[in-house]
Amino acid sequence: MSYENIIIRNENNVAVINLNRPKSLNALNSEMVAELDKAFGEIAADPEVRAVVITGEKNFAAGADITNMVELSPEEARAFAFTATFNKIADFPKPVIAAIEGFALGGGMELALCCDIRIAASGAKMGFPEINLGIFPGAGGTQRLPRLIGVSKAKRLIFTGAMVKGGPALEMGLVDTLAENPLEEAVKLAEELAGKAPIALKLAKECINSAGDVDLQTGGKIEAINWSGLFATADQREGMRAFIEKRKPVFTGK
Ligand code: CAA
Repeated sequence: MSYENIIIRNENNVAVINLNRPKSLNALNSEMVAELDKAFGEIAADPEVRAVVITGEKNFAAGADITNMVELSPEEARAFAFTATFNKIADFPKPVIAAIEGFALGGGMELALCCDIRIAASGAKMGFPEINLGIFPGAGGTQRLPRLIGVSKAKRLIFTGAMVKGGPALEMGLVDTLAENPLEEAVKLAEELAGKAPIALKLAKECINSAGDVDLQTGGKIEAINWSGLFATADQREGMRAFIEKRKPVFTGK
């Protein structure tokens, strides 16, 4: 389908999604989030795409579109919230990488938090300025941020609304790597992941995602079930046979 607020290109088994409302620094409105939702649905069903990069030219996204939110009632705010789509992205069965330049603020940074890996430019400006609007992050930020960087650092960022650049963001674990060209770096990593066994990646992600939510014993059980299940896949046979035959494995996602 065609999109108005995002641009998608598929190359080498990687889908690159560009957030595309440059006039408002890629502020996320309902239409853009609905398009993201549809796009991720299509990508999930496309076996040719094995990894995804989300980015925005010049800016990642300066948050939810404030002009859409001023007069919302609590009920309307609930409907406006991006939680369902963002959860879908966080649980997406293929790796998703955020390539961050410019501003990644509020809902924009919350979108980046849903990605598996965040690669940022050193000059990127990231944070959760919602407190300055009389609200707080409402697209998963209060839950994902403390899980990622720890409770007190998360409180400090959310309570102050302060923006951090790449260096401090890397130090506190908000991003994973800095790069001169985050998109190029993200695509390179996505292409590498596209060559791995898709089912093993999907199940590893499920296990890791559940690690922050369940106790160690339960997590161990989830891991055991998923790990042993891989022995029903052609890719497990292929990976191990290729090792023994001293050749590169070719994973088919089966
Ligand atoms: N919503 C709507 N429009 C936005 C926007 C946003 N989040 N962020 C920027 N824009 C618009 C500006 O209004 C401006 O539009 P006009 O040219 O029509 O005036 C345009 O983008 C360029 O922005 P600025 O002129 O402000 O650019 P700047 O370089 O001076 O400042 C900025 C950049 C510091 C990011 C500033 O735009 C800003 O503070 N933006 C808002 C950031 C924010 O508060 N985000 C959180 C939103 S709430 C949220 O995300 C809730 C949630 O949890 C889901």
